[in-house]
Amino acid sequence: MQQKIIILDFGSQTTQLIGRRVRELDTFCEILPYNKFPHDDPDVIGVILSGSPYSVYDPEAFKVDLSAIRGRLPILGICYGAQYMSHIYGGKVEPAGSREYGRAHLCSFESDNALFRGFEPDSQVWMSHGDTITAIPDGFRCIASTDKVKYAAYQAANEPLWGVQFHPEVFHSLQGTQLLKNFVVDICGSRQDWSAASFVDATVAELKAQLGDDRVILGLSGGVDSSVAAVLLHRAIGKNLTCIFVDHGMLRKNEFSSVLHDYECLGLNVIGVDASEKFFADLAGVTDPEQKRKIIGRDFVEVFNAEARKIEGAKWLAQGTIYPDRIESLNITGKVIKSHHNVGGLPEEMHLSLCEPLRWLFKDEVRRVGRQLGMPEHLITRHPFPGPGLAVRILGDITPERVRILQDADDIYIRGLREWKVRLSGEEARRVLAAGVPAEMTDGEIEVSLYDQVWQAGAVLLATVRSVGVMGDERTYEHPVALRAVTSTDAMTADWAHLPYDFMARVSNDIINHVKGVNRVCYDISSKPPSTIEWE
Ligand code: XMP
Repeated sequence: MQQKIIILDFGSQTTQLIGRRVRELDTFCEILPYNKFPHDDPDVIGVILSGSPYSVYDPEAFKVDLSAIRGRLPILGICYGAQYMSHIYGGKVEPAGSREYGRAHLCSFESDNALFRGFEPDSQVWMSHGDTITAIPDGFRCIASTDKVKYAAYQAANEPLWGVQFHPEVFHSLQGTQLLKNFVVDICGSRQDWSAASFVDATVAELKAQLGDDRVILGLSGGVDSSVAAVLLHRAIGKNLTCIFVDHGMLRKNEFSSVLHDYECLGLNVIGVDASEKFFADLAGVTDPEQKRKIIGRDFVEVFNAEARKIEGAKWLAQGTIYPDRIESLNITGKVIKSHHNVGGLPEEMHLSLCEPLRWLFKDEVRRVGRQLGMPEHLITRHPFPGPGLAVRILGDITPERVRILQDADDIYIRGLREWKVRLSGEEARRVLAAGVPAEMTDGEIEVSLYDQVWQAGAVLLATVRSVGVMGDERTYEHPVALRAVTSTDAMTADWAHLPYDFMARVSNDIINHVKGVNRVCYDISSKPPSTIEWE
């Protein structure tokens, strides 16, 4: 039995974060739309209700009947989840005088309440709500307050039902993880046995049962997700897995050959297809980013399908889809956030069924599984890279020469990031370790490369811009390159990375001195939102 916590999603930005925090407690959880509770699943041990963009009074606010769950399973309502339960069970929720937002401190709390075990006096929490609870239902009791929020937390008498108006899942609630642990482990009784090793064992067994002797095709991109999916499948079905790795000509410098080599060393059966000429021909003269994506997507499907058709008797198409991809596509508020992020498609007439062995994992868990499978560290820690590759990092039309210039500049930058080591302590160190970077803590510090410190980095060629420079006695009139590096946990929001000036000075020098065609280097200091990670 795989114990699980169900997180009912009322549409908050931080619902995924709740999921990640629960997984960090080595406990499996599923995020489901607020009205899709799996009533006949015997493995559920507890329920968390997320926050929401709505007020309980909004006509379109999400409402659900909890009577089949209440009293049967422990429930924790967070923010809207807490307000909603207070509202439906007879309490009062009203607009807060001023929006309650930001840091606050629990000036009083029930220290012997199971939810607050291990809490320190004045514990810092993070508030973010426009409504507030002004009266709790009969039979509920207030168990924590801040100086502004009387009902910061409540519990129903003699029942495993709690509500907190703050957000324990966010980093600024300093004992938020402790609170979630109290709920998930002590109250719900999680055995904390969800680990990379248990995932690999269970998934390999499931894949063997599901696939039997069937042949499976998988598209490799060089990225972490598809690579880990391939190695996992290979462990389950060996030679019955055939991988296809298409070079569209827009990969990083030497990436196609080096990654192909890595895959072969891992024992994978890989067909490498160099289709770059076709892509260059079809992209000639195209400047519009969406048009570039469409052409690359279409060509990719064509090339992939031509190879896939040669594989006789294939029954399955495997993909490295991970959990956040699916949660986004299920986003209950109905807003499409990233329509452009799926390159590829199924060759329909082949009637392949879909196999997605990583569909339950967050990115950091995929990396842990990769390590568990013994994959090389450089494949596991590889930054995310867009499907259309350097095509969306060349502003203007794409030529092989421009790709060559950008590959050379990008290569200097990325190699530099890998070689430059920094020492981190405190929260920064914890963030990097939580992302799964294997570094030893000594005297409260870790040493990591700048590459491992950032979420994603790359160079952008501003091919539509030229500027004047001087080299030796010569006037130059060439293109600038913009360097981008961001910190992020999920690519939905990102901040520009504060790279050391000394590092930037060296990279700038190296690029201008060694890459013909570039005479200026800039650093992008925009965060997302309002910018995006990629320039196109
Ligand atoms: P943006 O630019 O939207 O990027 O902030 C967020 C993340 O998605 C990647 N990205 C893409 N990935 N096809 C992909 O497979 C695409 O067309 C695409 N565009 C952006 C980007 O690199 C970042 O990790």
